[in-house]
Amino acid sequence: MRPRNVVLIGFMGAGKTVVGRALATHLDFRLFDTDAMVVEEAGMEIPEIWATEGEPGFRAREEKAVLRACAGSGHVIACGGGAILSMKNYGVLKGAGPIVYLRAPADVLRARVDIGGEGRPLLPDDAAFGRLLVERVPIYESAADLTIDADAGTPEQLASLIEQRVSDLPERPDRTIRL
Ligand code: S3P
Repeated sequence: MRPRNVVLIGFMGAGKTVVGRALATHLDFRLFDTDAMVVEEAGMEIPEIWATEGEPGFRAREEKAVLRACAGSGHVIACGGGAILSMKNYGVLKGAGPIVYLRAPADVLRARVDIGGEGRPLLPDDAAFGRLLVERVPIYESAADLTIDADAGTPEQLASLIEQRVSDLPERPDRTIRL
């Protein structure tokens, strides 16, 4: 069965946006990238939002973006690496469609993200990178309906694999309690 939407989660540098774009083309879905939505809505880049509004300001904007991205169907939702950590986002994303965790080994992620660079307010140094990774991996794992190794192929190949695997997933059971 074709899913209503597909949600991509994973650490910074896992390739959620690039794989999301390829997946959206495969499924003929529309890509919603929560970081891009936040930046567009704020008219500021992420480091600037962080500097002027702090992380709480960014997270509030991200929650709004997640809500907008999850409204409707036929969407591939590429989440910022921290989006799934909010309970509110977790519920909304879980309800939107299967959650795919793009997993990558620490050395692959480390090589892809610019530790200490301007665009990564959460990664001032390698220690912060290590701490965040250890903290988040179990959360990504438990949120995921499906885990895909992000370094196992090109974005195209990963998109084909995800397309095939999400179609095989059983539909989410309806857990509504009716009296
Ligand atoms: C963040 C990840 C970033 C961006 C922000 C915070 C995080 O997105 O949302 O800098 O908390 O992991 P990417 O995962 O797309 O880099």
